[in-house]
Amino acid sequence: MGAPFLIVTIFLTLASSLAFASDPSPLQDFCVAVNDPKRTCSLSILSSLHNFFFVNGKFCQDPKLATADDFFFKGLNIAGNTSNKVGSNVTQVNVAQIAGLNTLGISLVRIDYAPYGLNPPHTHPRATEILTVLEGTLYVGFVTSNPDNRLITKVLNKGDVFVFPIGLIHFQFNTGDTNAVVIASLSSQNPGVITIANAVFGSKPPISNDVLAKAFQVDKKGVIELERISKKKMGAQFLVVTVFLALASSLAFASDPSPLQDFCVAIDDPKDALFVNGKFCKNPKLATADDFFFKGLNVAGNTSNKVGSNVTAVNVAQIPGLNTLGVSLVRIDYAPYGLNPPHTHPRATEILTVLEGTLYVGFVTSNPENRLITKVLNKGDVFVFPIGLIHFQFNKGHTNAVAIAGLSSQNPGVITIANAVFGSKPSISDDVLTKAFQVDKNVIDYLQAQFWVNN
Ligand SMILES: *[C@@H]1O[C@H](CO)[C@@H](O)[C@H](O)[C@H]1NC(C)=O
Ligand SMILES: *[C@@H]1O[C@H](CO)[C@@H](O)[C@H](O)[C@H]1NC(C)=O
Ligand SMILES: *[C@@H]1O[C@H](CO)[C@@H](O)[C@H](O)[C@H]1NC(C)=O
Ligand SMILES: *[C@@H]1O[C@H](CO)[C@@H](O)[C@H](O)[C@H]1NC(C)=O
Repeated sequence: MGAPFLIVTIFLTLASSLAFASDPSPLQDFCVAVNDPKRTCSLSILSSLHNFFFVNGKFCQDPKLATADDFFFKGLNIAGNTSNKVGSNVTQVNVAQIAGLNTLGISLVRIDYAPYGLNPPHTHPRATEILTVLEGTLYVGFVTSNPDNRLITKVLNKGDVFVFPIGLIHFQFNTGDTNAVVIASLSSQNPGVITIANAVFGSKPPISNDVLAKAFQVDKKGVIELERISKKKMGAQFLVVTVFLALASSLAFASDPSPLQDFCVAIDDPKDALFVNGKFCKNPKLATADDFFFKGLNVAGNTSNKVGSNVTAVNVAQIPGLNTLGVSLVRIDYAPYGLNPPHTHPRATEILTVLEGTLYVGFVTSNPENRLITKVLNKGDVFVFPIGLIHFQFNKGHTNAVAIAGLSSQNPGVITIANAVFGSKPSISDDVLTKAFQVDKNVIDYLQAQFWVNN
């Protein structure tokens, strides 16, 4: 079991040279947000400039001062209070709650729904959302952009997963007479929310009645009525759904597109070309709810293997509608003392929520520091593993543990360190490995002879 840890400090040069499709790259391991510039260390790129400027509205804390708590949040096992007009409550875990999410392009929410509770129509201007139902039954939907404005809906049960593409207006409605709960990941550290009714009829100052009357093709009396209803924060949302789609997805990307796969060798002759990520796009008119849907995430993976853990992935291979949307998720099961061994995701930051059990987790910063940052997580705790860094989770309890984690890529990739180094086909030569690990050939041969679980 010891070998994976041995390797942790060596392969960090693998990490994080890929560009994001959404939030900016930190250009370093991470960039814990601080509000006071006196506590910043300058990125090399920033220090060469005479003026400070914000990355995404935040300064970066000196990485040497970062602690596990900068990547940590607790209490996501606690339900939000749904005693309000819409009967739902969103508990956010983004860069405001976890400063270490700064520049990492991902966050999450817990949403509670009373019986017949509604998360009213809204958009996230900066994020795709991938939602897992933990309890209850939800009727969910989103509306495509102009000119089609097609409503795509689905009834979701426990363990079902659904995707709401970036910028599109969407909602969830609890059709059952019991409470419902979901965890959803969003492909931005700060996805933003535009609740349609509030933004349109509740803005301060208000949008002029002339504009609204024209936009909604109703008379001014109708607009005043809508504003009145919206001040009571009810109902009006559905009416607005088909109209405000022009709000959607107009953000520019500041960086090159991500390859969405390990590499993308350039060629000149299109006859030999593959599409980015090897995927064609389906005609949008033919898309159905099932293109954004996966079921069965309530079912535990089989942990009867050497490491005692099992990762159930829900990415573009399972949900083709995730293509190009920059987010995915996994369920991870851990037997007592099970380990998700040291690995990296070359294309994604991971944000993990513990549903059951107690996990000892950690990640290692890149050269030259290679600092190990660890934390013990309990039910409801949330932890972030920055993009490309080697990390692990270990179930230190004598009961099973379960986690759900969002990843900031449709296809995050996994490099299990032990497998990649000692289990590659063909093998990396002994000369290379003995030198790299400063051990003799017998040790390398022993390690190469092991069967490595492909988790
Ligand atoms: C959501 O729940 C929290 C915690 O119970 C509560 O403080 C907050 O007011 C609730 N928000 C709404 C909109 O009801
Ligand atoms: C939930 O909110 C309602 C209305 O604000 C309040 O009366 C009630 O005590 C709250 N419940 C809990 C458990 O905090
Ligand atoms: C994970 O669990 C699934 C479903 O039980 C099983 O088919 C698969 O072989 C397991 N993977 C590993 C690595 O044990
Ligand atoms: C889990 O995997 C082990 C080993 O492959 C197998 O013996 C066992 O029947 C599996 N358990 C379930 C519940 O499928």
